[in-house]
Amino acid sequence: MSIKTVGVLGCGLMGAGIAQVAAASGYKTIVREMNQAVLDKGLGRIRKFLDDGVTKGKVPAEQRDHTLANLSGTTDVSALASCDLVIEAIVEHIDDKVAAYAAVESVVGSHTLIVSNTSSLCVTELAAKTKRPDRFGGLHFFNPVPLMKLVEVVRALTTSDETYRALFSFAQSLGKEPITAPDKPGFIVNRLLVPYLLDAIRCYERGLGSVADIDNGMKLGCGHPMGPLTLLDFVGLDTTYFIANIMFDEYKDPMFAAPPLLKRMVLAGRLGRKSGEGFYKY
Ligand code: 3HC
Repeated sequence: MSIKTVGVLGCGLMGAGIAQVAAASGYKTIVREMNQAVLDKGLGRIRKFLDDGVTKGKVPAEQRDHTLANLSGTTDVSALASCDLVIEAIVEHIDDKVAAYAAVESVVGSHTLIVSNTSSLCVTELAAKTKRPDRFGGLHFFNPVPLMKLVEVVRALTTSDETYRALFSFAQSLGKEPITAPDKPGFIVNRLLVPYLLDAIRCYERGLGSVADIDNGMKLGCGHPMGPLTLLDFVGLDTTYFIANIMFDEYKDPMFAAPPLLKRMVLAGRLGRKSGEGFYKY
């Protein structure tokens, strides 16, 4: 399977990062958003990241120009017709995802692989909703995508060996270090990370320490780049709540149960960085 042209569905935080690393790795990359304003915002985010990288001396100017030359944006799904691989990074709603796959399948060739960047949904269920369950899998990237080295390569029950190998090699070609993750809620990383984040909220709720002390404890005592409450703000409290609920539904294990404070912060719109307030104010 030879991948030359990559389509990305969604130009939000994850989609923009994925499109950026694909374009930077030499793939002709076409990113599709539902409307021009959201697309422009996402493409602007990519440009800013690359410009900042040049200013910091981390990205040579030619690399930035090469990345931008490989990248184009569209609101028209038919622009993805020539893609060998389409990476879906849209909202975590199964109906929206299924509709997006149907739209993609109506324009791409039969060889085209489709993957989801889902962090929580069942990849086998997503695969089964397409006409190519053997050419479908999961590629789970981490935020911020251009900086985080990991990609979880998730194999649905139906993913063929050939597709799996192609996805693994593709992740390596992006300069990432892929790991094989099972199609189980949370895969590997969120299976470990989400209970830790929920526990940090429970500790705070129960008065174990202040927000700053809990964060500094893990940051300075364990060498984590961010404390858990900072990380929650970074990932998004709504995203964490959503993933925790899916994991709790499947495993029925209390360690995945969302603490009352998390639910209330989400209901109050304190979603973290994206809303201007979470455990911290931005
Ligand atoms: N272009 C190129 N390089 C850049 C850059 C840019 N625009 N901006 C920053 N960098 C480089 C920096 O130069 C630095 O490189 P160095 O280590 O070689 O010096 C490195 O990237 C780190 O950048 P900064 O120094 O500016 O920032 P920090 O040191 O504060 O790191 C961070 C920021 C990488 C976000 C770090 O805090 C971190 O790793 N946090 C944890 C993030 C995390 O856990 N993500 C996963 C979330 S879970 C998830 O996504 C799964 C989902 O399903 C929920």
